[in-house]
Amino acid sequence: MTSIDHPLFSLLESRHSCRKYLDERIPRATMEEILTATRKAPICNPGIFFVLSDPALQAFCDELAPHVAAERPEQNEYGYLPKPMPPFLKDRQRAPGYALYNSLGIARRDIAGRRAQFASNYRFFDVPVGIIVSIRRDMGAGCYMDLGMSILALMLAAKSLDYASCGIGAFANYGRFVHRLPEASRR
Ligand SMILES: Cc1cc2nc3c(=O)[nH]c(=O)nc-3n(C[C@H](O)[C@H](O)[C@H](O)COP(=O)(O)O)c2cc1C
Repeated sequence: MTSIDHPLFSLLESRHSCRKYLDERIPRATMEEILTATRKAPICNPGIFFVLSDPALQAFCDELAPHVAAERPEQNEYGYLPKPMPPFLKDRQRAPGYALYNSLGIARRDIAGRRAQFASNYRFFDVPVGIIVSIRRDMGAGCYMDLGMSILALMLAAKSLDYASCGIGAFANYGRFVHRLPEASRR
């Protein structure tokens, strides 16, 4: 229960990471509106947003697919968790994974099923619009805070228009590939 009664809070409460999408186009004007929210966050440096829809989105996924199938991740773009991971973090990281596989009926020992689900990260879960979020390499770690706020603003703006979203940090496993994105898709 909360005493906060504001539409923004309802948006926060009602959003969740969505991993299955309708095959529906998002009008360009709507996308522009949603992206504008990234600049409304309390930030100085919003990062760089590469917006991909078909056919560029399909081409990106097709070109990445052989790398994923060969399971040849490149060096991670950025560190996320400490190595070695303390047990409490391991538990925290596993919990959403197990919840996801459970909800999809994928058993813990079903390695093929888990791999297939993981591979769908690299097809953006078949979403109509995929956004690669990037930041200049020479920006300090503090700018990741700005970036996170921009991303949340974008997700909430999307949700306010009834569009779901999901972060996909897995792309950071293929950073060099992702950096080949054409200048043309920059915003
Ligand atoms: C930066 C970031 C990266 C994420 N990367 C992935 C990912 O690679 N694959 C995935 O299925 N979910 C990913 N997620 C979604 C998280 O698992 C999810 O936000 C978290 O479990 C909380 O669940 P909720 O968003 O439904 O509240 C990511 C979320 C964030 C914010």
